[in-house]
Amino acid sequence: MTRLLVVGAGQIGAAAAAAAIDDGVVDAIAGVVDPDPAAGARLGTQYNAPVYTSTHEVPQARSGDRALVAFSSRVDVVAPEILRLVAMGYSVVSTCEELAWPPRHMWNALHTAARTHGTAIVMTGVNPGFVMDRLPLLAAAACRNVKSLTVSRRIDSSARRESFIPKTGRGLSLDEWDAAVASGTVGHRGLVPSAHLLGHALGWPNRDVTDFLSPILTGDIVSGFRQHVTLRAGEKTIDLDLVVDWGLEAPGDRVVVDGEPPLEVEIKGGYHGDLGAAAQIVTALQHCGELPPSFYRPTDLPLRFG
Ligand SMILES: NC(=O)c1ccc[n+]([C@@H]2O[C@H](COP(=O)([O-])OP(=O)(O)OC[C@H]3O[C@@H](n4cnc5c(N)ncnc54)[C@H](OP(=O)(O)O)[C@@H]3O)[C@@H](O)[C@H]2O)c1
Repeated sequence: MTRLLVVGAGQIGAAAAAAAIDDGVVDAIAGVVDPDPAAGARLGTQYNAPVYTSTHEVPQARSGDRALVAFSSRVDVVAPEILRLVAMGYSVVSTCEELAWPPRHMWNALHTAARTHGTAIVMTGVNPGFVMDRLPLLAAAACRNVKSLTVSRRIDSSARRESFIPKTGRGLSLDEWDAAVASGTVGHRGLVPSAHLLGHALGWPNRDVTDFLSPILTGDIVSGFRQHVTLRAGEKTIDLDLVVDWGLEAPGDRVVVDGEPPLEVEIKGGYHGDLGAAAQIVTALQHCGELPPSFYRPTDLPLRFG
């Protein structure tokens, strides 16, 4: 029997739990962890599962148990929780953006814990997880002499989940935007990790990464943002460009590889961030038990499991 412990009963946790049950990837929800008892109770009642306010209260895993950790974009916040869950025997899937490229000492700790306890830790998602790393890597691997990779993603935030909107800065004045940038609550934490994943997977040494974030204004009020990350490795470059705005026209994703042959891949309308995240999580939950014990960043995962 495969059971799922949901750590973070937010919109992604709830959507992924429903998708995993619907698709038969897990048989039951083993428990729900959320410091907000009301949020935990909503999901716990739905699946007749026990509710905890902290991972300290969670029982040891039974054989086949998995945990989904979906509550923060910051690796320093999620890593201690993941390490605790792994020590209790859970295989862990997480959408934490910074987990895609954690600092070296954290990578070591996660990798060692997974090996020691015989489980897999998988970072998955849309961005990071697919659009700006796994997909462009697949495209680049089909070309010789890759000189540059450019990925652009345009998102209409009005079509996204509620919990995504505060990160876009929508409704802030410019002063409030500046304060939000300083406290790290707006913008996307996943672009720099995706750039590193690509540079690393392509084997490009001596990488230098710059990250530029600017607001999009409607009148004096912020309605979205543009973020541009550039990785330079000698003459070679990776450019990741993200535009997020309320009601943005012509949303979509595009990958351009300057190589032999040149290659351009377009996702018309864009890969939906919320539906896609649930799909990526379900795939990871389905297959994490088949992976040798280790910590897997998105570009470490095989295309075919089994
Ligand atoms: N990689 C990707 O492509 C991708 C895609 C989608 C989402 N994500 C990330 O996944 C995370 C979840 O997204 P979301 O939209 O579901 O967020 P959300 O709606 O804000 O939900 C997060 C939930 O987790 C709870 N929480 C906070 N600290 C916790 C802890 N220590 N243990 C357990 N639960 C805790 C929050 O409670 P409080 O409200 O009380 O804090 C909230 O109920 C976010 O960090 C998001 O950026 C990544």
